[in-house]
Amino acid sequence: MKAYTRWLGFMLAALGMVSAAQAEITFRHAVTGETLSFEYGKEGGDTDAFKKFKETGKNPYNGDKAVIDKGHSLYLTACSGCHGHEAEGKLGPGLADDYWTYPRALTDVGLFEILWGGAQGMMGPQNTNLNSDEMLQIMAWLRGLYTGDPSKAEWLK
Ligand code: HEC
Repeated sequence: MKAYTRWLGFMLAALGMVSAAQAEITFRHAVTGETLSFEYGKEGGDTDAFKKFKETGKNPYNGDKAVIDKGHSLYLTACSGCHGHEAEGKLGPGLADDYWTYPRALTDVGLFEILWGGAQGMMGPQNTNLNSDEMLQIMAWLRGLYTGDPSKAEWLK
């Protein structure tokens, strides 16, 4: 009986782990739809904020002033050459309005998918340059710039 109870406890714990793992969001490439892996890429991004993001799909850094400033400086290094200093668009499209080639960018998961996995042409995967936490920081800065229709801002819902 005791062995059985222990076995039952073990099975329940295992089941709990499986369902916790399943609760994580599956991130997909914006163009190919392939599942994105976080095994490769710049290290150091597996922070509490990123773990939370993988479960909730919400960027915990949105609205966080200190993080947004860091995101801004990361953006200037990694993105502004192609997207413009204020994300107004240059070689790549503007990122501050509500027109998106990839409407998934209106959710934080979708925006992250484009950054991590890339899209087409010059928009390659950014994950060797930036880790996942740094991407969340840049995303928080971008969301703060938004000039589009508030009702389209899916990430706020
Ligand atoms: C070498 C130039 C280049 C760099 C660097 C670059 N991008 Fe891009 N980006 C592009 C181009 C070109 C596209 C259009 C690709 C497409 O339509 O598939 C694009 C598309 C995007 C999109 C999709 C826009 C839409 O309308 O759906 C997002 C979001 C984006 N980039 C964000 C970023 C961020 C954030 C960074 C920095 C981490 C970055 N990009 C770095 C060139 C670049």
